[in-house]
Formats: sequence, structure tokens, C-alpha cells
Amino acid sequence: MFAIVLIFCCVVYFVAYRVKRRLPSPPVFPGALPIIGHLNVIPRDPLNMWDWEKSVHEFSLKNDGVAEIRFGTHAIFIVTDPDDSLSIANSCYSKPTIYDFAKEMYNRGLVTAGESTWKSHRKLLNPSFRQQVLNSLLDVFSEQAQTLVSNLEAEAGKHSFDVEPYLISHFINTASQTTLGLKTDDDSVITKHYGPATKDLFEIYLDRFLKPWLHIQCLYKISNLKQKQDALMKIISDISIAIIKQRKTEQKQDRELNYGQLSTSENFKPLLDNLLDLADTKDAFTDDEIKEHLNTMVTAAYDTTAKALYFIMILLGSHQDVQTRIFQELHEVLGADLAKDRKLTKHDLQGLVYLEAVIKESLRLYPPAPRIARYLDVDVKLKNYILPAGSTGVISTHSINRHPMWGADADNFKPERWLDPASLPSNPNAFASFSLGRRNCIGKTYAMMALKSTLVHICRQYHIICRTSHLQIRCQALQSPVSGQHLSIETRK
Ligand code: HEM
Repeated sequence: MFAIVLIFCCVVYFVAYRVKRRLPSPPVFPGALPIIGHLNVIPRDPLNMWDWEKSVHEFSLKNDGVAEIRFGTHAIFIVTDPDDSLSIANSCYSKPTIYDFAKEMYNRGLVTAGESTWKSHRKLLNPSFRQQVLNSLLDVFSEQAQTLVSNLEAEAGKHSFDVEPYLISHFINTASQTTLGLKTDDDSVITKHYGPATKDLFEIYLDRFLKPWLHIQCLYKISNLKQKQDALMKIISDISIAIIKQRKTEQKQDRELNYGQLSTSENFKPLLDNLLDLADTKDAFTDDEIKEHLNTMVTAAYDTTAKALYFIMILLGSHQDVQTRIFQELHEVLGADLAKDRKLTKHDLQGLVYLEAVIKESLRLYPPAPRIARYLDVDVKLKNYILPAGSTGVISTHSINRHPMWGADADNFKPERWLDPASLPSNPNAFASFSLGRRNCIGKTYAMMALKSTLVHICRQYHIICRTSHLQIRCQALQSPVSGQHLSIETRK
């Protein structure tokens, strides 16, 4: 009898031990209180956010790349290990409730779409973001970059100035043109109405993000912010619906003139045309869905690229050797055309390998989206932990990009590392600026092309000077340099 009880106890202990061994929970970051968790220590000020996140990330790195923080009683797992991050990204495609604020604005657009809509729409949209299709946008990238360069003339040779507003309006105009496909004579709809409304709407989202009491829907509904949101959404919706209707009419007339086919003479093909083709040939989207995709694309495109270029300009201004090398490369690739304002070709862009390395290195050190989040709708098994369903997984793109696998100089700005595959980490998930897995950034090739084209125009015209010794970062949903860095430009002789 004693032997049976002993064996039974051993079995129970062994099973319990195994279950415990197989299901360890990640360690909780120090400082959590009962009921409120870390709510009393999470900084509200976006300027202090970064230091706090840094200590959470260091704690996570020391604990196999995962740390738990608590938002009240809700568990949020901060993941800094590249492989574990990929496991989360490819096991769970749903977004946590914080994205619901943006859902009111963008609904079935890719960023906020629920899992089943996302799966089918992403499949349909992927071909529109292939290099070959995007090449048709190159002229718009060049034209818009030329406009940016002439607007910057007002600042050349003067004291330091705030370049951010120039970059924001440049990328809003570029994204709106390449997405909605307006001709240059319709430009004012974008520059005076659609662009500013898009920017203000995104700022409302960020503002709400920072005010926890406005996370409560019934309080938000009666707030001034919600009234502003509704007014801006109406402006954006009216403009995009009118543009969709107008483009449909143009395509109908085009077909009538071309015996049922669309004329192929036009090289430029904005996203709207691709969406209308899909609606026509595959019965894919309603007009409302097309509107939501267009508005999502413009918003997802402009702020990220503007912030990326702001960081790049600061880094170039403080690394004159890198700027000189870019200028030499422009000389080699563009030759006699360097001084001319000619539009760039796909061959020009392919040849600018050092410039590409500079962009990637800046994105590595300062990813505009320093973290992304997923709602864990299933238990997720990581290398050393299991994250329970019902919690939130936060993938820290910032920490992955500076993971020890980048070497002892992970925090240094060294574009050359991208020129030699042997000096890059062998793990393909070690660069996460465009997110990881199947729900990654659909616009990454577009972003690289837009950044490259804009930088060619800026660097051939101006010399950038930046005297910032310590880069101060504002960290909200996205991160950006604190406005008004000491950046100045001089026209090249
Ligand atoms: C340097 C510029 C850019 C960076 C750093 C960037 C980064 C990211 C990241 C980290 C995500 C994942 C977001 C999440 O899961 O919450 C994302 C998603 C997305 N990005 Fe970008 N992005 C950039 C430019 C663009 C551009 C130019 C476009 C459009 C032309 C774009 C369109 C999108 C869309 C639609 C998604 C959602 C994809 C999906 O859920 O299937 N992005 N981006």
C-alpha cells in the first residue's frame, strides 16, 4: 500500500514538475502593485517614455528576451528576442484594443483590419507593392522631391531650422499622389484639404493614446476630440469618395475609347487604379473598402517615412564623412547629370548601394515604429516561456535592431556594415524596422524608393549640418527626434 501511495505521489510530483517546467511564465518587471500593476510608474510624458522602456528592455534581455509588465491586471509581454518575436508575429494576427481607436478611422484598412478580412485583402493587395509595379511611381517621387528641394531654398544658408514640417508635407503629398492618383492640376485638394486633415486625424489618435481617460469609449464620445475626429473623417471621406467616383468615370470613358480595354499609354499607376482593377476583375472591394484602404495607406506611409528621413538628416549632419561618401556615390552613378534636376530611373536607384546602406542603418538605430503589438488569441510557445492567450505581446523592434547579435558596436552608426554580408547577423529576423512575419509592412519597398529618391535630390543640392550632440527622442506610437534639432543646410557650390 505504502509503495502504491509513494508511486502515486511521485507521478503527481513528476507531472506537476514537468507542467511547471514546460510552462514557465516570463518574469515580471519590478515595481508592479496589486490591481494597478505598473500604471503608476509608466511615464505619461513622451520625452520620458524612452528611458523607462530602456530599463524594461534591459530587464527583458537579461531574462531570455521577455519581460512582463502589467497594465492594471492585464499582462503585456515585452519581447526583445528576434526568434520569439517572429513566433508571436506568425502565431497571432489580431491587434490589441489600443488599435481600436484607429479602427474608427480606418476600419478594414490593412493596419486595423480583423484577421479574416486582413488575410484576404492582404493577399489581394500584395502584388500592388511589387518593385515592378512601384517603378511606375518613380516620376512622382522625383517631382515631389524637386518641390521639397525648392521649398527648402528659403532655409539655405540661414541658422538652424525645423525641417520636420517640410518633410511631413512632402511625404503627405507624395503618398496622396501615388495612392489617389491626382494629376498636378488637382494638387490643391491634397495640399489644402486632404493632406492637412489626414495629419490632424492621426494627431488626434496620438493625443487619445496619451490620455488614458479618453480610452473609455463613453468619455471619448462626449469629448471635443471626438467631435474634431468626426469633422476630419468627413472631410477625408468626402474627398476620397469623390476621387473614387471620378476615377471610375475616367476609366469607363477610357474603356469606351479603347474597345473595352484600359489604355496602357499611361506609365503612372496609382494604388487606386489597382484597387479598381481588383474590384472590377475579382469583385474584390466595395467603394467603402477602397476608401478605407486608400486612407490607411496614406497615413501609414507619410508619418513613418517623414520621421525616418528626419533621423537620417540628423545622422548625416553629424557624420560628415558619410555625407561625403554619399556625394561621391551620386557623382559616380549620376555622372554629368549630378547637377541637373533630371528625374531618377530605376537603374539610378539600384546603383546607389551606399545610400541604401545609410538608410537601412538609420532605420536600424531609429525605427520610426519602435514597437508593435499583437493580441494573443492563443497560447504562444517561445524558446523558454509560454505566453498565455488573452494577453498582449509587444515586439520591440528597437531592441531587436540593437540586439547583442549585431556585435559590440550595435549602438554605433556604421552604414558600411550593410555592404558586407559577413558583418551582418546571420539571423534574418535581426532587422525588424518593417516588422516581422506575414503581417509586416506592405510598403517597405515603396518606403525605400521614396526615401532614396528624396535623399538623392536633397544631397545633390544641399550640404546638411547638424550640431546635436545628444539626440533627444519623443516616443509615442511612433518615435521621432524632438522638434527643432539644430539642423541647417547650405547650397552646394
Ligand atoms: C520608413 C517607413 C516605414 C516604416 C518604418 C514602416 C513600418 C511598419 C511597421 C513596423 C508595420 C507593422 C505595424 C503593426 O503591426 O502594427 C507596418 C505596417 C504597415 N505599413 Fe509600413 N512602414 C513604413 C512605410 C510604409 C509605407 C510607405 C506604406 C504604404 C505605402 C506603409 C504601409 C503599411 C501598411 C498598410 C501596414 C499594415 C500591413 C498589414 O497589417 O498587413 N508603410 N509598417
